[in-house]
Amino acid sequence: MLNIGVPKESADHESRVAMTPTIAKQLINKGFKVMLESDAGLLSNFSNKDYEDVGVTIEKKENIYKAEVIAKINPPSKDEVKLMSKDATLISLLFAQTNTEIINLLAKQKISAFSLDAIPRTSLAQSMDVLSSQANLAGYKAVILGGAEMGKIFPMLMTSAGTIKPATVVIFGAGVAGLQAIATAKRLGANVWVSDIRPETKEQVQSLGGKFIEVEGDSSIKTEGGYVKGVSDEFLKKQQEAVTEKVINADLVITTALIPGKKAPLLIPDEMLEKMKSGTVIVDMAVSQGGNCASSELNKVVTKNGIKIVGEGNLPATLPINASELLAKNIQNFIQHLTHEGQFKWDMDDEITAGSLILKDGDIIQDYLKKSVQPELINS
Ligand code: NAI
Repeated sequence: MLNIGVPKESADHESRVAMTPTIAKQLINKGFKVMLESDAGLLSNFSNKDYEDVGVTIEKKENIYKAEVIAKINPPSKDEVKLMSKDATLISLLFAQTNTEIINLLAKQKISAFSLDAIPRTSLAQSMDVLSSQANLAGYKAVILGGAEMGKIFPMLMTSAGTIKPATVVIFGAGVAGLQAIATAKRLGANVWVSDIRPETKEQVQSLGGKFIEVEGDSSIKTEGGYVKGVSDEFLKKQQEAVTEKVINADLVITTALIPGKKAPLLIPDEMLEKMKSGTVIVDMAVSQGGNCASSELNKVVTKNGIKIVGEGNLPATLPINASELLAKNIQNFIQHLTHEGQFKWDMDDEITAGSLILKDGDIIQDYLKKSVQPELINS
């Protein structure tokens, strides 16, 4: 049976852990051995003892990286890759297309690697989909964070001292995070306007009580597997004209628009910021991918023309208890899907394996990476 090592996440602003005691217990019951780096669960409120009580062995970092399977959240650092054994299998987010340096190092070390972000977004894979489980929480937290910065309440309130109008929230992008943000803002009583460039989102937005901002589509919008692959500058200009009226009257703007493998589209340039009213709050959920708002700054709240721009780069990590619980369940489902009687199946006819396996014993599996990943060019 495979032994699974779970390291403490070393990335800045990270408080999540890839394994919870509940999930570790379920894996151990299935015969897997689970090791955890000491204090890896602490920031998610799980103590070493919580893990030891269910049969997890607590180890130091070096030993964790010697496990047959390393299950973690963020891509490993260069130093962490060097700690791994040659025949190890890594399961983590890798964002391989934009992270070729680490992929090269892993390849050079003959490691096998599954990337959690490359799991296909299909119904079968839904229970393993960490992008969705985390984006869902992030969409919720974006509304809460925005509300805390707003200086206003969300619902309409009729009091003897007068009537308070409901807040107006504008949400860009109705993917997983955006849809949860719509639902949360609606539950809190706000008026919610939404812009997305995938036409099929209109119905989803309306079913949650949001109002869809119509922009005439054009042939430049390219989608593949539900993702936006590209859009022209002309379309973005038309979109900007359509949303401006809503944005300048908004109390809270939440931007979630992403184009995988590319820099996030710019939706709130500084000229739009100048037209907006003082006191408005923007939560830029795309800040780690370059930002939808020109003036947002990673992990900072900046104020410009009286507008507060929240650039929290890791929203799920601000909810580490729920985020770790969901992540650990996703990872457990993924490991169980990939293995049979405690060993990897390496079944390339399975679309989940075929989509998410980036490296097998150092060989590059995905054609789209073959040009950019060239481990033979790495010296150290
Ligand atoms: P994402 O995080 O890649 O993008 C967020 C949203 O931004 C998307 O709705 C996208 O259309 C939108 N967007 C991009 N450019 C924009 C612009 N200029 N203006 C406004 N909006 C813009 O999306 P996410 O949440 O990761 O979902 C990706 C796809 O995967 C969706 O089609 C979703 O329905 C699908 N999905 C399918 C699942 C399943 O079947 N198991 C599970 C989760 C997602």
